[in-house]
Amino acid sequence: MIPQTPGVHPAWLPDAALATLGAVDTVVLGDGPLVDTVRAEVAHAATLRGGEAAPGRLTLALLGAVPDDAPEPVRAAIDAAAGAGLGEPRGAALGDPREAAADEASSTLGDEGFVVVRSGTPQHPTTTVLAETGHGLLHGWFHLVRKGALAQGGPGAQGARGPEGTSTSTAPGTSSHEHDELSVDVHRPTHDLRVLDHWDNISVHPVMGQVERGYSGGSLFYDDGSLRPDLGKVRQYARLLAASGVNRVALNNVNVGRREAELLTTHLDDVVALAGAFRPYGVRVHLSVSFASPVVLGGLATADPADPGVQAWWAQAASAVYAAVPDFGGFVVKADSEGQPGPFSYGRDHADGANMLARALAPHGGTVHWRAFVYDHHQDWRDRSTDRARAAYDHFTPLDGRFDDNVVLQVKLGPVDFQVREPLSPVVLAMPQTRVAVEVQVTQEYTGQQKHVAYLAPQWTDALQARPWGDDGPAVSDVTSGTSRGPATAAARTEAAASGDADSGAGAPRSAGGGLAAVSNVGDDVFWTGHPFAQANLYAFGRLAWDPTLTAEEILDEWVALTFGDAPAELRSTVHDLLSGSLDVYEQYTAPLGVGFMVSPTRHHYGPDVDGYEYTAWGTYHFADRDGVGVDRTCATGTGFAGLFPLDLAQTYESLDTCPDELLLFLHHVPYSHVLHSGKTVVQHIYDTHFAGVERVEEMVTAWEKVAPLADPDLAARVTERLAEQHRSAVEWRDQINTYFFRKSGVADERGRRIY
Ligand code: GCU
Repeated sequence: MIPQTPGVHPAWLPDAALATLGAVDTVVLGDGPLVDTVRAEVAHAATLRGGEAAPGRLTLALLGAVPDDAPEPVRAAIDAAAGAGLGEPRGAALGDPREAAADEASSTLGDEGFVVVRSGTPQHPTTTVLAETGHGLLHGWFHLVRKGALAQGGPGAQGARGPEGTSTSTAPGTSSHEHDELSVDVHRPTHDLRVLDHWDNISVHPVMGQVERGYSGGSLFYDDGSLRPDLGKVRQYARLLAASGVNRVALNNVNVGRREAELLTTHLDDVVALAGAFRPYGVRVHLSVSFASPVVLGGLATADPADPGVQAWWAQAASAVYAAVPDFGGFVVKADSEGQPGPFSYGRDHADGANMLARALAPHGGTVHWRAFVYDHHQDWRDRSTDRARAAYDHFTPLDGRFDDNVVLQVKLGPVDFQVREPLSPVVLAMPQTRVAVEVQVTQEYTGQQKHVAYLAPQWTDALQARPWGDDGPAVSDVTSGTSRGPATAAARTEAAASGDADSGAGAPRSAGGGLAAVSNVGDDVFWTGHPFAQANLYAFGRLAWDPTLTAEEILDEWVALTFGDAPAELRSTVHDLLSGSLDVYEQYTAPLGVGFMVSPTRHHYGPDVDGYEYTAWGTYHFADRDGVGVDRTCATGTGFAGLFPLDLAQTYESLDTCPDELLLFLHHVPYSHVLHSGKTVVQHIYDTHFAGVERVEEMVTAWEKVAPLADPDLAARVTERLAEQHRSAVEWRDQINTYFFRKSGVADERGRRIY
C-alpha cells in the first residue's frame, strides 16, 4: 500500500507524476523489504494507467536476482552495465562473463546506486534498472518517475525523454555510456549522509512552541507531549523524502528538553515507532541527544567524557537503542551552544566530547553529528574584538585530526547564522582531517518564514559548487563528499610560510565525507510546508544532497514538472518564474550587502528591526553610524576573519578593491559614499534595491493573480494569502531600512522617491 493521506497535498508525488510510468509493462525482480516497496510503487502506478498501455517494457531488478532465462534485453543490460559503466568484467576468461559483470557492478554501485540501461527501438523501448540493493532500486524507480514527469511537459522538459530518458546530470557519481546500441547511466549519490534535522519538540516549548523555527503548523511526529498515535502521514513523508534523495532524519530538536532527552531511554518506544514508519522507504532515524544525559537521565553525578562511568552509561544507552532499532543512524549533538550542556563544563574539549559518544556508537556502526555552532552568546556589544563569525573556526580548527572516524562535524553554511547572504563558513575549508558536513536551513527562519517566496537552492548551489582554492582546486562539495583533501588551513599556512614549506599543513584526508544536513521546514500543515512553494526547498535539498552538481534551475524544473505536471503550461511557467530569482528579491528588500541580522528579536526573527540586535549579547551587529555601516572583519584593521580563508580568497575578501559587492558589509565598514563595483554608492544601492525589491514583489502578485484560477483552489488561496503578506512585509522592510539609512546618513535618494 502506498501511504497517502486524504486531504493532504501530494507534493512532488501526485498521481499524475506516476501515470506515465504506470502505463509501461513492468517487472520487478528481487526480494527484500525495499524491493517490496518498489513492487507496491509499481502496482500503485499501474492502477493509474489511463487508456492504453504504453509500448515497451521496464524491468527493475536486483543484480543477483536476474534469472539465467531472463529476457535477452535484461541479460544484455547486465553485461552492458558492467562492461561500460562499471569496468571490464573481472575474470571474464575464467567463467560466465555475466556473473563477473554482476560482481563488478555490485562492487561499485554501493548501497544506494543504480544503473539504467536502455535498448530497443523507439516503437518498443526497453528500460532495465539494476541495483545491488532494494534501496538502490527504489532510487532507480524515483529517478524514472522524475524523468517521466519531465517528459510530460514540465517547464524544462525540452530535451527530456520518457521514462527511458537519459540522465542529464554529469555528477561525479553519475556517468553515461553508449555500449553496443545500449545506453547505460550509472547513478550513485555523492553523499552517503543526507540528513534532515527536525527541530521538533515533544512537549510544547513555552517560547519556541511545538517546532522550533517551524512555520508549517505543528509537528508531524508529536502532539503536545506525546507521539502521534497515527503515523500514516509520517509514512507518506518518508516516501517524499526518499523520492527527493534524503536518507536520514533526526527526530527531535537540537535544543534537547527533558521530555525529548527521554527518547534515548524511557521513551525509546517512540523512536521504534517512528523508525518503523520511515524504514519502508529506506530512511534511517537519528536522535538529538543531550550531552548531560548521564546526569539528567542516568542519575550520575557527572557527564564528564573522561569519566569511565559516563562512558559506560553511553555505551549501554547506545546498545539499548540498537537492540530496539537495528538500523539506527546515530546522535546529533549541540554542545556548549546557546545554553546546551557540553564538555567545556568539565574542562574537556569538543574532540573529547564527540569521541566519547562516537565510541559508544562505533560497535553498532552509528555516527555522531557534532555541531560546530559554538559561540559566546553572552557577548558585550562594547567589545569590538570578539567576532561571532570566527568563533567556530577558533574552537574547532585546532581539533582537526582528533575526531574519530564516525564523527561528522556539522558546520552551518555561513559563519553566523543562516542569513540570506553570508560567505561560506571557513571551517568547512580548514579541517582536512575531519569529516565535515555542511548544514543548511530549509526552514526559512531568516528568509521569510514560509510567508515569503524564497527559493533557497541558488544559495546552496553557489556554495557547494564554489572552488575556494581556485578554478583548478576542489569544489566545496568535494570536501563534503570526502573526495578532496582540502588544502591547508590558515594556521597551517602560517606555519608553512615560516618553515618555507608551501604545501604542508594538510594531513591525510578522511576517505568518507560528512555529507549534507538541513533543518527541516515540514510540519503537520496540509501543504507540508505552510507556503506550498516552500516544498521546492525541501525537494531541492534532497536532490542536491544526492547530486550537488545539479543547478538550481534544473531542480526547479523537476519540482514544477512533478508537482504541477498536469496543470496548464501557463500555471507551470508562472510558478517556475515566481520561484526562480525569489531569493534575490528577498535579499533586495531586507538587510543589504551581506550585513545581515536586521530582523526583529521580539517577533522571532520576522520583519525588520534594524537596531534590534545592535546592543545585545548575541554578537550580531552592523555598526551603522552617521558616516557608514558594516563590520570590519579584515586582517589589517578588523577582527581578522577575512584571513581565515584559502589565500587567494582571503586576499579577495581583504581588499575593498576586490571584495564582492554582495558581501561588502559582512567584511568591511565603509562610508555611505563608498562606490560599489556596480558604480553606485552604498547608500544609493540600499535605496535602489529596496524600491526594486518591492516592485518585484508587486510583479509577483500580479503574475500570480493571472494564473491562480488555473490552480487547485485551496492551493491558490494559500499562495494568494501568503503573497499578500509578503507584499505587506516587503513594504515594511523597504520603508524601515530606507528611512533608517536616510536618517543616519542624511543623504537623499538621487531619484527623489518617498522616504520617511
Ligand atoms: C538559530 C536559531 C535557534 C537554533 C540555533 C541552532 O540561532 O534561532 O532557534 O536553536 O540556530 O542552530 O542551534
